[in-house]
Amino acid sequence: AKSGPSAVTNTMGAYACQRKTPLEHHNAVLTDALLLLAENADFCTNEGRSVAFKRAASVLKALPGPVRRMEELQGLPCLGEHCQRVIKEILEHGASSEVEMTRHSEHYQAMKALTGIFGVGVKTAEQWHRAGIRHPADLVSSEHKLNRAQRAGVEYYEHLRVPVTKAEADRIGEIVKRAVDAVLLGAEITLTGGFRRGKQTGHDVDFLITHPDEGREEGLLPKVVSWLEDLLLYQKTNKNSYLEAKEWPARPPSNMDRFERCFSIFKLQRPWAALEEPPQSGERGAAETPGWKAVRVDLVVTPVSQFAFALLGWTGSQLFERDLRRWAGQKGMSLSSHALYDCEQKRYLRATSEEEIFAHLGLEYIPPGERNA
Ligand code: CTP
Ligand code: MN
Ligand code: MN
Ligand code: MN
Repeated sequence: AKSGPSAVTNTMGAYACQRKTPLEHHNAVLTDALLLLAENADFCTNEGRSVAFKRAASVLKALPGPVRRMEELQGLPCLGEHCQRVIKEILEHGASSEVEMTRHSEHYQAMKALTGIFGVGVKTAEQWHRAGIRHPADLVSSEHKLNRAQRAGVEYYEHLRVPVTKAEADRIGEIVKRAVDAVLLGAEITLTGGFRRGKQTGHDVDFLITHPDEGREEGLLPKVVSWLEDLLLYQKTNKNSYLEAKEWPARPPSNMDRFERCFSIFKLQRPWAALEEPPQSGERGAAETPGWKAVRVDLVVTPVSQFAFALLGWTGSQLFERDLRRWAGQKGMSLSSHALYDCEQKRYLRATSEEEIFAHLGLEYIPPGERNA
């Protein structure tokens, strides 16, 4: 069967929010390679280069079939010279020398391990790397000062490396629901992030919390957190700092939203936490497998009037969000997880559903399962 991807070549939009990107796609070998280069560019604080590689990978994810020949890429957006060189080498030789060299480089491996610690970004990891730190274990005996988040990150490093399953996410959803019900009748929780896009595993679990009566949600989070106290290994709660009128146009919406939120680490009791491997007979098993698993959980509280924007902003993927905001900008609008502002009409555009926001933006609606850009 000769059904190459060329059919969509001319119609593919340059913005991720113009394309349907399913979770399962046909070009994983190529996208894995490009995403490793993107990750490495992040580790070298080269954001422009990182985004370029991510965009290219995202375009390949949206193709209806596997790329077999370079000619099939003609007319596709976001595929620069460097990306094409990498793709060509993989198509011809099965692997890219640049990717393999990067993958095995000491800098890449150390930065991957260090940025894999909860609470550690590229800047900190790079400082530690320059000081000879290569692995989280090196931090335990070092003189390097860790903040509270990083101490938790090192302590639960091995737990948090293990992907969270959908079953674990659902179990945590039940627990959070019980906590929310106990402190505010009628409050609602919604699973967002990668799990809402249909992923079967994730690095964390993301929830939005709201209440149908605007204002009732204020101050909810500290109560929820205190109800959950015994189940939380770590938590940092921030207040809501969003003010609509003052926020615009004095300062354009930043990527970082200002909702009341909590970054936490849950102590999830087994058997809901999936066992890495079934306990073997003899000494292994019960003694070595703890009865719980540490899981990263993000809780975000939104006033109901901002719910649709928060839902759209927290469902991701990150590249999809980035391109939504860029698309809005190019249309003379400004989109955040709180609101959509029309810069020409000088007014906020209200919405009570994601569909309405896509319509305001002049975009075809893309359901969550096809936002895996
Ligand atoms: N997000 C955000 N502000 C943050 C952190 C995340 O707005 N401070 C948004 C991201 O843009 C993303 C969504 O929240 O759209 C989920 O982020 P994250 O949990 O990091 O990614 P997932 O897509 O859920 O992937 P994973 O399965 O690895 O968790
Ligand atoms: Mn390169
Ligand atoms: Mn997530
Ligand atoms: Mn998250």
